[in-house]
Amino acid sequence: MMFDLTGKSIVVTGAASGIGAGTAQRLRRAGANVLIGDLADGAAQAAEWGCAFQRTDVSDPAQMTGLLDKAVELHGGLDVLVNNAAAAGVHNMAEADEARAERYFRINAMSVLVGMREAVKRMKPGGAIVNIASLSGARGTPGWGEYGMSKAAIISATQTAALEFGPLGIRVNAISPGGIATPLSISINGDALTRALEVLTPAGREGQPDDIAAAVHFLASSDASYITGQNLFVDGGWSIGTTVQTIGKILS
Ligand SMILES: NC(=O)c1ccc[n+]([C@@H]2O[C@H](COP(=O)([O-])OP(=O)(O)OC[C@H]3O[C@@H](n4cnc5c(N)ncnc54)[C@H](O)[C@@H]3O)[C@@H](O)[C@H]2O)c1
Repeated sequence: MMFDLTGKSIVVTGAASGIGAGTAQRLRRAGANVLIGDLADGAAQAAEWGCAFQRTDVSDPAQMTGLLDKAVELHGGLDVLVNNAAAAGVHNMAEADEARAERYFRINAMSVLVGMREAVKRMKPGGAIVNIASLSGARGTPGWGEYGMSKAAIISATQTAALEFGPLGIRVNAISPGGIATPLSISINGDALTRALEVLTPAGREGQPDDIAAAVHFLASSDASYITGQNLFVDGGWSIGTTVQTIGKILS
């Protein structure tokens, strides 16, 4: 079967909402034993999806480590870690705040560093790590500077980890979503981004959580065994350029 994850032990952080929630459900449907770690209480919905849940603040190294230990205890090992949890806000660089930027860094990037360090100790050859970065980690994005710095760090750490963990048989990849309709995005952008992405992306629409979940699913599976160290943009082509039709609209 393609992209089969039967019996794999998978941890998804930040899966009480949005992209993580879509991912956890999809990986479960593909046969994986999924443990969700989230700061918010997602125990009831996790149970509905057939997933396990542990309340976790990923910015606390002890809790992050405890989450991975829980996966080993519940599911007999750790095959895949999806580092998805993040905090975000829109602030111009001219009003940058060190404490806030540091908080984003701890939650978004340091958790990935600690998660990868602890995951590699618990994984066997064939293991995979998927880190959710962002378009704003690789491209200038007005208003997203503090957050984007933390996401750029994830892309860098993904590349180095892929080189260091490759000889252990463990692959490490990042996914950079563009604009995805989640509670986070909607709370910040309302429907303005939804409308903008209909024009700005070659795909002609905003992304949905399952668009990202599908990419995680592929990268987590052994079908992607020759792919490591990559940062896959799942953005409807937003980052690639502008269609002739869009240029025509701007000029008309
Ligand atoms: N939605 C988008 O357009 C978009 C674009 C680019 C990247 N991303 C990335 O995708 C990922 C998921 O984002 P989303 O849009 O689904 O957001 P979301 O807010 O809907 O979900 C994020 C989840 O992370 C959890 N979380 C936050 N801080 C945490 C912590 N310290 N410990 C544990 N859990 C914590 C939240 O409780 C929530 O359940 C994030 O890494 C985000 O940066 C999203």
